[in-house]
Amino acid sequence: MNKREAQRCIESLRKGIPPDKFIRLFTVGRKNEIGDLKMRLETGEGAALLLKANYGSGKTHLLKFIKEEALERGYAVSYVVIDANSGVRFNRMDQIFAAVCRNMEIPNTEGKGLRCFFEFVIKNLTESHQIYDAITQDWHWEHDEIFDSPAMMIALRAWNTNVEEVRYLIEDWFYNPWNYNSQRKRLYTELIGRLQSYFRDQRPDWKFYNEGIFNFNSKGYEQSWAALRDLHMLALASGLEGLIILFDEFEDVIINLKRVDYQEAAFWNLFKFYRGKEFPGKTFFAVTPDFYEKCRQALMNKKRYDFDYEMLKRLPTYEMSPLGIEEIEELAMKILFIHGIPYDWEPDYVMKAKQLRHLVEMAASKPRPDRVRYTITNVVKVLDRLFEDWNENAPGEL
Ligand SMILES: Nc1ncnc2c1ncn2[C@@H]1O[C@H](COP(=O)(O)OP(=O)(O)O)[C@@H](O)[C@H]1O
Ligand SMILES: [Mg+2]
Repeated sequence: MNKREAQRCIESLRKGIPPDKFIRLFTVGRKNEIGDLKMRLETGEGAALLLKANYGSGKTHLLKFIKEEALERGYAVSYVVIDANSGVRFNRMDQIFAAVCRNMEIPNTEGKGLRCFFEFVIKNLTESHQIYDAITQDWHWEHDEIFDSPAMMIALRAWNTNVEEVRYLIEDWFYNPWNYNSQRKRLYTELIGRLQSYFRDQRPDWKFYNEGIFNFNSKGYEQSWAALRDLHMLALASGLEGLIILFDEFEDVIINLKRVDYQEAAFWNLFKFYRGKEFPGKTFFAVTPDFYEKCRQALMNKKRYDFDYEMLKRLPTYEMSPLGIEEIEELAMKILFIHGIPYDWEPDYVMKAKQLRHLVEMAASKPRPDRVRYTITNVVKVLDRLFEDWNENAPGEL
């Protein structure tokens, strides 16, 4: 690790969490879980998994661990935080699709979003690929067979023209598809009509409107699911291992979705991910241990006795216990070591192992759910202070 990277790590650890790309380096314990998760990434099959742990026990950390590991293994990954209050509702598959697009990440590429993904796909499709034909040549019936979502084909084909305004429009459309239900004409004009010099699409405009081709929320969000499948398909076609979606804060569906019919719809979407037919990639969901019980309560309170609770109970889950003191100490040792890199000092010379252990024990014994995070920030704080003293007393300096 170079100085700049180490500096970035320490800055992030001051707030209690390791930075992106260094999650694995700052991961301790969880040997079984990690071994098992790595195995899951090795098979190409789709699957869904609930990661269960209490607040502060490392769900987000583990999801980000999976993200790093998956990117390294050549998957496209989208990390999505469910939040009904800011427009990421799990009953609304159009919002979920949009969030997946916004957070899309690609191996060895800075940044995230649709732009990264489409550019990667276009760069890596070989000319012999039938998708390449579909987006570069005139429209034929067969082209619709390749994509499950006609909107995805239209978007990728228009993207491929390299017209910058068109790209902005496509980003805005996929990031906020619900805003475009009343702008079908504009989408037709900008993405098809005006681009006739690049490709020809003989279908008249009314056909697009009649068939709801620009619409992501009709017929049970049919096209939102189809577009998710296409993202996975495009990832595979461009040489990646597929698309993995990580859903954090999944409890949100019980806490922030106020209407029972919305909650039920959200549970059905969860089942669909488990069933794997609607989306063939891998998905992970972070929930607290009482998730099942809370769901049951929420539905019971609203008198939904006929809902199949057993289905919720049967979902494959992974329970994680909190980190032990030994593991937290191991983490503290890593922080100690990294702290020396950007500031050119020798923290282990000033802070002895015994002292560090004491510090960890003090912080980690606090009866607070976020004790790991609290310990991390404390360790960095003490190191920062010791470094200041060291600097003050350094001989021969100005
Ligand atoms: N296996 C682990 N190794 C190192 N640090 C971890 C591990 N699991 C969690 N942490 C740290 O513990 C703190 C709480 O974890 P977090 O993932 O935010 O919990 P949750 O999402 O379950 O509330 C964070 O500072 C995180 O970096
Ligand atoms: Mg979390």
